[in-house]
Amino acid sequence: MLRASFRRENVVGVFAFGSWPKAGFCHSFCRIDLVRNVVGDVAMTLAAFNLRDVTLGYDGHPAVHHLDGEIVKGSLTAIVGPNGSGKSTLLKGLVGAIQPMGGLIERIGFQTYDIAYLPQASEIERSFPATVEDLVTLGLWRRKGLFTAIFETDRKDVSKALVAVGLEGFQTRAISALSGGQLQRALFARVLLQDAKVILLDEPFTAIDSKTVSDLIALVRRWHAEQRTIIAVLHDIELVRETFPDTVLLAREPVAWGKTVDALIPENLLKARRMNEARDETAPWCEPDAA
Ligand SMILES: Nc1ncnc2c1ncn2[C@@H]1O[C@H](COP(=O)(O)OP(=O)(O)OP(=O)(O)O)[C@@H](O)[C@H]1O
Ligand SMILES: [Mg+2]
Repeated sequence: MLRASFRRENVVGVFAFGSWPKAGFCHSFCRIDLVRNVVGDVAMTLAAFNLRDVTLGYDGHPAVHHLDGEIVKGSLTAIVGPNGSGKSTLLKGLVGAIQPMGGLIERIGFQTYDIAYLPQASEIERSFPATVEDLVTLGLWRRKGLFTAIFETDRKDVSKALVAVGLEGFQTRAISALSGGQLQRALFARVLLQDAKVILLDEPFTAIDSKTVSDLIALVRRWHAEQRTIIAVLHDIELVRETFPDTVLLAREPVAWGKTVDALIPENLLKARRMNEARDETAPWCEPDAA
């Protein structure tokens, strides 16, 4: 039996930046080492996600590349970067909504259906004729399956989740009649019901008031205390610094990947902005070498 004598090596941020102003898709800037646990002679990864030189994109065009690193189980990670830097694309890759054009994404100890994913608001169809209860009940699908009857116990669970996000009594309200903040709360209620090990949130706090942000942040902290793996895209750097211990800073490729205090230094933020501005949309894609 292995004894619990852990030697933890946190090795983060081995960077080799090239001439970044010429950023296209054939410039590899960084390679980030891993967080590993070593038990005796057996190396045991703590990763939930393991990415190996991943390229993600659409219709044969890469959107973000050289994604190379790990997201540790139970970690609370922010994904930060300018508009168009590939943040949502990375989440779509992690949840399996798009497949890598190159490289490998490993999900360790769970499947894509174990992930709760809250897409960016712009991707949510609000004109769909559904009530808040319909929306939140979708969080039960893994437990119940789709197209099954909803029982009184399910209704009680939905009701409890709505109370938890401050939407008591909103069951019959049409989702088209919700404010942005109320919709965000309803989506968090759905995530609550999903009871997922891994939670991906794409800009969950954009365009909502500070009271709603602090209520929803409290839920995120609770999920983190419950050892769930949480990854959220955010633009509010101060909120990231206050709440998220780990950060991936993107500019069509990782600029920094590690502890927030190290990743979000002004130099890296400037670098990300310049790299994103200087990217060459017509640069050829450096197709990964055949194995
Ligand atoms: N469905 C799509 N089809 C084609 N290209 C896409 C698609 N979605 C995103 N892109 C492109 O991929 C690149 C990265 O987009 P992505 O949505 O990941 O950026 P982002 O960092 O999430 O930006 P934002 O902060 O504006 O949400 C952009 O150039 C974008 O135009
Ligand atoms: Mg986005």
